[in-house]
Amino acid sequence: CGIVGYIGFREAWPIVIKGLKRLEYRGYDSAGIAIINTNGFNIYKKAGKVSFLEGFTEDKDRSGHIAMGHTRWATHGAPSDRNSHPHSSNDRRLHIIHNGIIENYATLKEELINRGHQFESDTDTEVLVHLIQEIQEIEQIDLLEAVRLALNSVIGAYAIVIMDRENPDQLIAARKGSPLVIGVGDNEYFIASDATPIVEYVKNVIYLKDNEIALVKRGGLLVKRLDNVIQTPLIQELELKLEELEKGGFDHFMLKEIYEQPRSIRDCMRGRINCEQGKIALGGIKEYAEKLKNVERIIIVACGTSWHAGLTGEYLIEEYSRIPVEVEYASEFRYRNPIITEKDVVVAISQSGETADTMAAIEIAKEKGATIFGICNVVGASIPRITHAGVYTHAGPEIGVASTKAFTAQVTVLTLMALYIAQQKGTLTTSKLTSLLTELNGIPEKIQAVLATNELIKNIAEKVKDSRNCLFLGRGSGFPVALEGALKLKEISYIHAEGYPAAEMKHGPIALIDKEMPVVFIATKNSSYEKVVSNIQEVKARKGIVIAIVTSGDREVEKMVDYCIEIPDADEAFLPLLATIPLQLLAYHIAVMRGCNVDQPRNLAKSVTVE
Ligand code: G6P
Repeated sequence: CGIVGYIGFREAWPIVIKGLKRLEYRGYDSAGIAIINTNGFNIYKKAGKVSFLEGFTEDKDRSGHIAMGHTRWATHGAPSDRNSHPHSSNDRRLHIIHNGIIENYATLKEELINRGHQFESDTDTEVLVHLIQEIQEIEQIDLLEAVRLALNSVIGAYAIVIMDRENPDQLIAARKGSPLVIGVGDNEYFIASDATPIVEYVKNVIYLKDNEIALVKRGGLLVKRLDNVIQTPLIQELELKLEELEKGGFDHFMLKEIYEQPRSIRDCMRGRINCEQGKIALGGIKEYAEKLKNVERIIIVACGTSWHAGLTGEYLIEEYSRIPVEVEYASEFRYRNPIITEKDVVVAISQSGETADTMAAIEIAKEKGATIFGICNVVGASIPRITHAGVYTHAGPEIGVASTKAFTAQVTVLTLMALYIAQQKGTLTTSKLTSLLTELNGIPEKIQAVLATNELIKNIAEKVKDSRNCLFLGRGSGFPVALEGALKLKEISYIHAEGYPAAEMKHGPIALIDKEMPVVFIATKNSSYEKVVSNIQEVKARKGIVIAIVTSGDREVEKMVDYCIEIPDADEAFLPLLATIPLQLLAYHIAVMRGCNVDQPRNLAKSVTVE
């Protein structure tokens, strides 16, 4: 979600609206603004994009010099007018905007309801503002202290801004885990999720630190920690250009999104796994738990990168829940009179939730009586609306056309789904589930380690950037990774690339290999390691240039190949989550070196709503 606040002497509305539009990359399913002027207080909120809110309020009172606004990417509660921020306390005096997740909101909410609170939305955010109001009333303390005490009893991640309608001279901001920047002017302050909404007004900013809370008044600012120790904030000069800021300091959205993967995968798992107890909860499909116990076949339909995620799903579901899985291109499936019955479960995977072929495939399967699950990233998109149930990937908005973090989030959801079905069917013991979930929980950290090999990958990119063709080979769960690596490279660098199962190389692609041909191998230490090593030797015997993705410490392959990229050891099931990362970086650097438009490759679109 995106947050913007203003207090000062200018008209606040245009600053907040413009700022929210800049932050729409953070989510845009609903927006809202609260504003105070001499006549009183106004709050406007609407499902839909910021421009919709702008249109909706055209004839309304939008004047005032203190305001705060929010553009939402739904986590708790569907995108709707009533779930839009700001949220208000029971007495409607306090208002809050929030980015993040309050993990213990359910317990807090129950307690508040027992004490007579009434809630208007399904959000975790509303719980927080009610809690603050209650603390303030009971303790008879000022708002800053009430916010501080409330935050001390909250578990989760947040960036918040709080407004008191009776006090037009202050905003309170706090952060833990979600970014918040304060722009410092003369008798005016700006608060935002990143500096993009601020950059044209002031040069000086304070990056609020985790566990800090700020009281922002026109005439000055007070920052303290949640443990009540007053801080001297560091004022920094903004040096970045507007465009750079929008990409969070990265040169391209794609690179930013590659680097976001430790976070996006964590968000995807949040609240869904319990490592200690070896339990998985997938609220979106829990109604179908019984059905999953007895399902005889699962069909996955998708397009593009999402189809590759589907292939990893096939491996995972068959391995852990022993249900046969078929993975189909939605565009093929829809036109060949597929054999489907009421007993089938069809899983549609789509980042955008809008892909026309995938939607058509869903309609056909639905007509034939199958149960349809969606795995989508964009909350409230068309596919989640036409499926019976589903699991959101929660990777956050993906702007780069070539999918990166959405893919790994899809694979994460499929992993959770495979383990969830195994849990229902009892095909895995609790101790096995515990160990798999514990390992899955450690994947974001391992991805961080893979990202640290970026410079090495850049050097390799330099060496192979002028190639005309490239082959990607892998076996088992490494095969979809090879396909995805090849797709990334061709999409953004326009080098012809193919992914193949490594053993199939000898039935054709081997004819292409010469000293000019880079061949990327997924050669990690798993069940097919020895066989992949033999395939590497076959390529080297024909003078191909080999780039190998290997398990850390593998000296055997290192000796054989031209370039080696090490990734941390992991269970075979989690290999795609790690091995895909270096391939994304390789494609990215090659494309940049070739002068390609990485974020908007020619002829492609992020969301393909035509057949
Ligand atoms: C387009 C995009 C791809 C994406 C595919 C499927 O081709 O460029 O990145 O994988 O559509 O999109 P979906 O939103 O259904 O995952």
